[in-house]
Amino acid sequence: MNETAKNGELPQAAKPSGIKGRLLASLMQWVHGAEYRAVAKTLRLEPDDRFVEIGCGSGSFLAKYASRTAASAGLDHSADMVKMAARRNRRREQSGSSEFKQGDASSLPWRDSSFTAAAAIATFMFWPQPQDALREIHRVLRPGGRLVISLGWNADDGLDHAGHVEKYGIRIYSGTEMQAMLERAGFSEVEVTYTKAFMEPKLMICKAVK
Ligand SMILES: C[S@@+](CC[C@H](N)C(=O)[O-])C[C@H]1O[C@@H](n2cnc3c(N)ncnc32)[C@H](O)[C@@H]1O
Repeated sequence: MNETAKNGELPQAAKPSGIKGRLLASLMQWVHGAEYRAVAKTLRLEPDDRFVEIGCGSGSFLAKYASRTAASAGLDHSADMVKMAARRNRRREQSGSSEFKQGDASSLPWRDSSFTAAAAIATFMFWPQPQDALREIHRVLRPGGRLVISLGWNADDGLDHAGHVEKYGIRIYSGTEMQAMLERAGFSEVEVTYTKAFMEPKLMICKAVK
């Protein structure tokens, strides 16, 4: 039985909340350091980018790698993570160049073509409606806008994820599946690459363009 089935709530990693969730989110910024670097290297954010991170957690990636973009935004379904991310990016939020919203990845609270770049870091595997979410990200990106998704655990990494699936209620995707889903959502120029990260022997990085 997974944690969800046991307590009727999502596991902390899937929706960090309360003190435990905040502690976990603080820890994640260190654990995901190499993953952030790999995403940033692929995304190549420029000062004129309008960037959105879906499943932004504590807002650490935004603070470290998107502090100089023209605009930035974060969305998370955990109210506590939205607060934490807003606090971590307070100066930008107060200046009006950054905003943080609570919501689900499958229904984004922004107009069509609002952003030039998007990322989903260590979160896609939790999404219950992944195809709808990809369509939504495609909708809020401008033509030519790019999306980077990182998946530390994936079907190509040679690990046995049965325990993780059971414990966290996650889905494990292969690069081929990711490519098909991204193309179905309307993306092109899909590239799936792999690199090493902390405790992730074959971190998957998916890049796609609207
Ligand atoms: C493992 S954490 C990663 C957080 C952040 N991206 C990072 O690397 O520090 C996963 C995050 O995705 C969020 N999340 C999971 N499912 C979501 C969904 N369907 N819609 C929005 N956010 C979601 C969780 O609340 C959590 O903050």
